Amino acid sequence: MAGLEGVPVADTHLSMVDGQRGHLIYRGQWADKLAHSHSFEEVTHLLWVGRLPEHRESERWCRDWTGKRALPASTVRILDSLGTEQGMMESLRTGVSSLPWEGKTWPPTPEALVGILARVPTLVSHRWHRLQGTDPIPPREDLTHAANYLYMLTGKEPSAAHVQALDAYWVLTAEHGLNASTFAARVVTSTQSDGLSGLVAAIGALKGPLHGGAPSEVEGMLEQIGDSNRAAAWIERRLRRGERLMGFGHRIYRTRDPRAESLRVVAQRLASEEPWFRLALQVEEEALRQLRQWKPHRELHTNVEFYAAVVLKAIGLPRELYTPTFTVARTAGWCAHILEQAENNRIIRPQSRYIGSFPD
Ligand SMILES: CC(C)(COP(=O)(O)OP(=O)(O)OC[C@H]1O[C@@H](n2cnc3c(N)ncnc32)[C@H](O)[C@@H]1OP(=O)(O)O)[C@@H](O)C(=O)NCCC(=O)NCCS
Repeated sequence: MAGLEGVPVADTHLSMVDGQRGHLIYRGQWADKLAHSHSFEEVTHLLWVGRLPEHRESERWCRDWTGKRALPASTVRILDSLGTEQGMMESLRTGVSSLPWEGKTWPPTPEALVGILARVPTLVSHRWHRLQGTDPIPPREDLTHAANYLYMLTGKEPSAAHVQALDAYWVLTAEHGLNASTFAARVVTSTQSDGLSGLVAAIGALKGPLHGGAPSEVEGMLEQIGDSNRAAAWIERRLRRGERLMGFGHRIYRTRDPRAESLRVVAQRLASEEPWFRLALQVEEEALRQLRQWKPHRELHTNVEFYAAVVLKAIGLPRELYTPTFTVARTAGWCAHILEQAENNRIIRPQSRYIGSFPD
């Protein structure tokens, strides 16, 4: 079966992606409701522990993260030795690989994984500043995961609206079944390797353009179109050449991606007055109209990446940070799968079918 399409390879309690009805559930709760009512830290607790934290528990849980944000000197040295040809995702892969793994290699524990998850935003912002030629800004312990990330990138305390929007984006993209990077993390974990190795494999998979790179291309498309008068002709040209429209279509969803719907609401709150936001809505409408015309045999709808791009732009993040910012969120999901795989482990070892020649 090419691309393992439709082949279940693990049982999971973590999330259900229902592509027919456009449903996304995290451990029995609607992901879109969680995105508007809970922080990324709380939803990570839900994914890892199986329930949302009680009030006291939540404070303790968040404190565990904030104390682990700083990078060890050895990681800083390694990151700073990388040449500028090492982009953000390559640097993140190297940076995560260089972090210390606390405790025993096997089985992985939430404590050891928090030590990695808490530092991913610091790795992103450290490297971002180095590539910009500016000084990295150390993390703060008094800010939430989202607020601290924006603070480290900009040096300013972010507005509550931006923090809320980033939290909603991170909650909605933290987990999504057995996508390619999550599968990679589970395969590595199944060999009883350490959790860090599972995360490094996952980052390697996410960085591929078919997986984590679409939002920056959505922004490229909006920039090229530039004006709603040009949208119809631009889209038609692209579809006529047999090219794809970024931010549309999905392997599993045959209806509107529920994450796209939620993120549209988030973006609207931040940017409804912005001309580029109105342009995005017009481009979406025209794209859907033409996709129905050009591909009547397919159900092609707006996917999460279209509105991810719009939300991240509204927060003020540059395009180069879109995939690293997505990585911060998905690290929570990868870690949940690493823990789940380890709980009931059997090495993942599928078969290949030999189609070569035989000796005479
Ligand atoms: C996500 C994606 C890879 C899923 O692919 P898939 O379900 O395996 O679908 P296929 O690649 O088999 O394509 C099926 C048909 O729909 C068309 N199609 C799928 N997505 C399309 C898009 N975004 N624009 C135009 N046509 C598209 C294909 O050309 C193909 O048409 P055909 O039957 O005439 O050959 C695909 O929709 C895509 O490339 N989208 C754009 C990139 C993107 O936004 N990625 C982020 C996903 S969250």
